[in-house]
Amino acid sequence: MDCNVLVTRMISKPAIEFLEARCKTLEINPHDRPMTREELMSAVRGRDGVLCLLTDAIDETILREATGCRVFANHAVGFNNVEVDAATRLGIMVTNTPGVLTETTADLTWALILAVARRVVESDQFMRAGKYTAWGPLLLLGTDVYGKTLGIVGAGRIGEAVARRAVGFGMTILYADVRANDIMESQHNARRVGLDELSKTSDFVTLHVPLLPETTHLIGPHELDLMKPAAYLINTCRGPVVDEKALVRALETQSIAGAGLDVYENEPAVESALLPMQNVVLLPHVGSASIETRTKMAMMAAENLVAGLEGKRPPNLVNPDVLNRPH
Ligand code: GLV
Repeated sequence: MDCNVLVTRMISKPAIEFLEARCKTLEINPHDRPMTREELMSAVRGRDGVLCLLTDAIDETILREATGCRVFANHAVGFNNVEVDAATRLGIMVTNTPGVLTETTADLTWALILAVARRVVESDQFMRAGKYTAWGPLLLLGTDVYGKTLGIVGAGRIGEAVARRAVGFGMTILYADVRANDIMESQHNARRVGLDELSKTSDFVTLHVPLLPETTHLIGPHELDLMKPAAYLINTCRGPVVDEKALVRALETQSIAGAGLDVYENEPAVESALLPMQNVVLLPHVGSASIETRTKMAMMAAENLVAGLEGKRPPNLVNPDVLNRPH
């Protein structure tokens, strides 16, 4: 295909090979870091398609620089980093990678639930510091997960996969969502409640909503105050869904017991007050980071990109209205 494509950071090899075999020109960010805004701004010029990442802020200014570009294929299920309305107005297709990272992200959510409840990271640090001198009946006591109440905020694909795992832990499952989810209720015996009731009743509150204006700071002082002092907050969706300063206050005042976080309000920055807290487990946004899943995500993004460049409807088009625009 006579097309010129930019990949904003090195991704899984099969996807690079797929693109190399199909595109006349392929430029890949040579650095092992996200492109700076200036680099991105100049690199998008003259491209027919761009494969971008959640670390790239694809706003209207960048989209306007990309004159003639037909597709921005995001290598993520979340696409809050792209100004989709602006892309639609400019006639640019935007795609994402749904489905392939569902189970991997649900697994990591469970890794965080178990890690905070059973003080896994703290125990590992204890061992490495040479502090294990004798088994102790009161050593590093955590809290049970089995039989507790799990509150799932956002019952989409990932929320549902988290619930499916919770069944094996004999948990009472609550969920809050703008829509009822039949699978949650019929297969996992989950009960739909309002966010206030979920916050009040759950032992673990886990977040699985997309980042939208309506979900920004969905968890703030009010919800944190309602949570039980023995409850934990888990966030593997998007940082700004939690008011991070309010979370710090809730942890400092022990109005909740701890938190497991994979995402941050101002990523990659993190509230420094969280760093010394032993009851908080912090991960560097690795929810979908398995070899299998990152390969699938990269292939899916590459296939979406190529489909759009070939004049087909990409399988995971997030702005179908772009196809109805008058030319
Ligand atoms: C990861 O955060 C994704 O949205 O795919």
